[in-house]
Amino acid sequence: MLAVETVNLTFKYGDITALNCVNFKAKKGEVTIVLGPNGAGKTTLLMHLNGLLKPLKGVVKIFGKEIRYDKKSLMKLRRTVGYIFHNPDDQIIAPTVWQDVAFAPMNLGLKNVDEVVDRALRWMGIEHLKDRLCNTLSNGEKRRVAIAGVLAMDPKIVIMDEPTAGLDGFGVRELIEIIERLKREKKTVIISTHDLSFANEVGDHFAVMFEGRIVYEGDFVPNDVARRFGLRGVYGRLIVNKSSSNTPELALIEALKGKKVVISRKDFRRIEGLLDGLPIRVEFHESHKG
Ligand SMILES: Nc1ncnc2c1ncn2[C@@H]1O[C@H](COP(=O)(O)OP(=O)(O)OP(=O)(O)O)[C@@H](O)[C@H]1O
Ligand SMILES: [Mg+2]
Repeated sequence: MLAVETVNLTFKYGDITALNCVNFKAKKGEVTIVLGPNGAGKTTLLMHLNGLLKPLKGVVKIFGKEIRYDKKSLMKLRRTVGYIFHNPDDQIIAPTVWQDVAFAPMNLGLKNVDEVVDRALRWMGIEHLKDRLCNTLSNGEKRRVAIAGVLAMDPKIVIMDEPTAGLDGFGVRELIEIIERLKREKKTVIISTHDLSFANEVGDHFAVMFEGRIVYEGDFVPNDVARRFGLRGVYGRLIVNKSSSNTPELALIEALKGKKVVISRKDFRRIEGLLDGLPIRVEFHESHKG
């Protein structure tokens, strides 16, 4: 089932065409990544998905239903689709961390605000910041607060515009864990990023944008596409499983092209020594024992 679909979505800022007949799809329960260089149209696309922008042409559908733009429909939509802005300062509105995370649940008139806020703070590992003033936080801390504020509303679809911006290595790891947790909770997650390494860690499906169009779509991003469209940190994946018909040499070549390849345990042991320093990530699947 599709959580999000755009049909011939077109948008202009004055004379600048930011989106040109975009047909974007995100499946329910998956993590879909929108990649592309600066100015490709990623943010403009994401902002259409919870009605922050209204299409010039075309439509946006959420769980199969076209978005309507009257105030009441938009309020409802924003409960279903949470949007985490590129810049946390665009998101944070209340003086203290607790007040900020509580803002939307209070506005929605939820009865269990304390519980909801505590849960969101715990999710983001920022309980200790709850009484701090937001304007005294570091950039990474602010980003966690902004994410907590959106998760507090428990949206079915979570949109993140360049969530790794300003995060250190620990922060990115934490973010990856949060996204994995969202996936376990069957949320649909849509993320824009330039960072293909991060994208490969969390993504199920990938759309590459360039000059307002989707120029590539698939379950992995081939390295030639990544190079052509200016993406950073390319790598493929080797999935180590009980058995596979791939030969180890072929698997290695395909992984170096950026693909996701399954390889048997036995074959993996044969090429393990070659992997040092190569841009390939290895994943051991459940059936891999010993
Ligand atoms: N408010 C605006 N007014 C005028 N033009 C805009 C505005 N916002 C974006 N644009 C233009 O629309 C195009 C798409 O911008 P958008 O922000 O969607 O790209 P992006 O892929 O998110 O880029 P980045 O990776 O830099 O965030 C660009 O050419 C940009 O200059
Ligand atoms: Mg952007």
